[in-house]
Amino acid sequence: MKKITIAVDGFSSTGKSTLAKQLAKALGYIYVDTGAMYRAVTLYAMRKGYIGEENQNIPDLIKALPHMELKFVYNENLGFSEMYLDHENVEQEIRTLEVSKNVSNIAEIEQVRLKLVDLQKKMGKEKGIVMDGRDIGTVVFPDAEFKIFMTASPEKRAYRRYKELLDRGDKVVYEDILENVQKRDYIDSHREFSPLRKAEDAIEFDNSDMGLREQFERIHGYALRIIKEE
Ligand code: DC
Repeated sequence: MKKITIAVDGFSSTGKSTLAKQLAKALGYIYVDTGAMYRAVTLYAMRKGYIGEENQNIPDLIKALPHMELKFVYNENLGFSEMYLDHENVEQEIRTLEVSKNVSNIAEIEQVRLKLVDLQKKMGKEKGIVMDGRDIGTVVFPDAEFKIFMTASPEKRAYRRYKELLDRGDKVVYEDILENVQKRDYIDSHREFSPLRKAEDAIEFDNSDMGLREQFERIHGYALRIIKEE
């Protein structure tokens, strides 16, 4: 059967990665979480002191970009790939609220986007890929055969993220998460370079009141129809 490219875009914490992982598993496709790549660059910038509450040194971050190695390594036990930054597994560290607070500011830097989009295009050259992010259907793979744009209310999304962080033992306050979700929505959809927007040919999917199983079944059915038509 012919392989296609599936682009999953949308606001933060809409369950893009859960859906994209399920789809990739069911179709035997590669899954790529592009948010992890922006988060890894952010972690790098925070560790080097290029970004933070007090100081900013974006020119030095831009200079360091060509020397930064970002790679996904498949973890057989978990059944998905983890993010590596310069040979270190940073999968846990990139998911903290601290990284979430800084990531939108890093993701609006043109040079960062150019580097990551270039890597993403290379990963998807052979098709058979499900990639989630903000600009996959608009910039990375404008010719993707199947584009999904996911939305849900900010309150629902913040609650999901709050539960996720609590479950992994982080001490967090719901109101902080809601504020972070709303701030990121604003920055992600108002930035100059590749702002978050729905591709014209994407299907919009609001999962505010939908369970994971129903969501997966509907989208999976849709994907199979497109694959058969190809
Ligand atoms: O999907 P996520 O929440 O892990 O993404 C983290 C941030 O990275 C998000 O605030 C926006 C940015 N991002 C982006 O600008 N473009 C992408 N393709 C993926 C993520």
